[in-house]
Amino acid sequence: MPTVSLDRLRRDLEHVAGYGATASGGVGRTSFSAADRQVRAWLADECAKAGLTLRTDGIGNVFIRVEAPGVPTGTAPVWTGSHLDSVPEGGRFDGALGSLAALEVARRLVEDDVPLRRPVEVVVFVDEEGSYHHLLGSTAITRDFTAGELAEVRGRDGDRLVEALAAMGWDVDAATRTAVRPGDVHAYVELHIEQGSVLETAGARIGVVTAIVGLGGGQLEFRGRQDHAGTTPMPLRRDALRGAGDLLARLPEVARSVSDTAVVTCGILHVEPGGANVVPGLARLQLDFRDPDRERLLQLEEAIVAAAREAAERHDLQVDYTRESITDPVPMDPRLQDLVETTAAAQGMQTLRMASGAGHDAQNMARLAPTGMIFVPSVQGRSHSPAELTAWEDIEAGANVLLAMVHTLATQ
Ligand code: HGY
Ligand code: MN
Ligand code: MN
Repeated sequence: MPTVSLDRLRRDLEHVAGYGATASGGVGRTSFSAADRQVRAWLADECAKAGLTLRTDGIGNVFIRVEAPGVPTGTAPVWTGSHLDSVPEGGRFDGALGSLAALEVARRLVEDDVPLRRPVEVVVFVDEEGSYHHLLGSTAITRDFTAGELAEVRGRDGDRLVEALAAMGWDVDAATRTAVRPGDVHAYVELHIEQGSVLETAGARIGVVTAIVGLGGGQLEFRGRQDHAGTTPMPLRRDALRGAGDLLARLPEVARSVSDTAVVTCGILHVEPGGANVVPGLARLQLDFRDPDRERLLQLEEAIVAAAREAAERHDLQVDYTRESITDPVPMDPRLQDLVETTAAAQGMQTLRMASGAGHDAQNMARLAPTGMIFVPSVQGRSHSPAELTAWEDIEAGANVLLAMVHTLATQ
């Protein structure tokens, strides 16, 4: 059984971190940005050098194929991959690790001419971080978007998805024909950094992911009255931002009222009209809320909206809530959990079963095929930050577990 080349994987990770590198040492690589185009061009070049064929579907998911000579056409491939987009000011490993380790797996299989009983495909999902749509690429793999739906989707900066696709030179119609059928994929495995501190605390090198957290996204809009900042007495104001601030201060107790595992984040706050000397008439909050249990996730959403209504009442405001997404918590396939565990144990690594507090494309893939995830430790649990770090020996360990798993799945 071959092993990965850590030197090559490290070189790739360091090189790719240059596409969208930020002054703070992190990465800003939104899908369809200039940095995204650069990394796509680099990937195509690397595949050409390695003799691997690459194709891109209508929405921007990339597939890199390792053929299994002699097997009947149509044999369902094993998929492995992750994403190459990042959050604003993100880190170098979130998504990049799983994508580039999968590329390394593909190269090793080809270089060593490893006999396979089914093809292997590396998949790099587009817009996992949801600048346009939560888990955009993997959602488009589980179901086709309609042209009408796509026309409605806007990016974080307000730009239209269809225009971003057209600017990439892609036929927007093809973006409505991306779904694959259950049965078209034999199994999906993703290597990812943990993004929390469970493995580090336990001193384990490999996380066996048991389930992925449920995620909700929504928008709250507080509306009050725009007024003059110098002449409107404090008691007479209907300041939309005060309502928003009141709610934000209460979110920890709102989460606690639902469960110990519930979390709520407002990472984007938009204030209108946005003048230093104008009392805000509108405050819009983008919310991310999560819980590993579906019922509790829905309770959490209700509790947030109820708290928002109370805050609006206290400040004489109106408030509207729009749900944007609910992604159910998803268990990982029990047989793939066992396979992560036995594969890592066979390589002498200490494992730990754990749930993922972060969302992943594996959530969507689990609807199509048996799906498993391998975690490696994040130093101090830092992620979605330039401080994201994983030790090279852990990266090597995770990539070798990935290679061995893909090999097992493609030869069974
Ligand atoms: O937000 C998440 O959990 C993931 O990193 N996209
Ligand atoms: Mn992320
Ligand atoms: Mn990720």
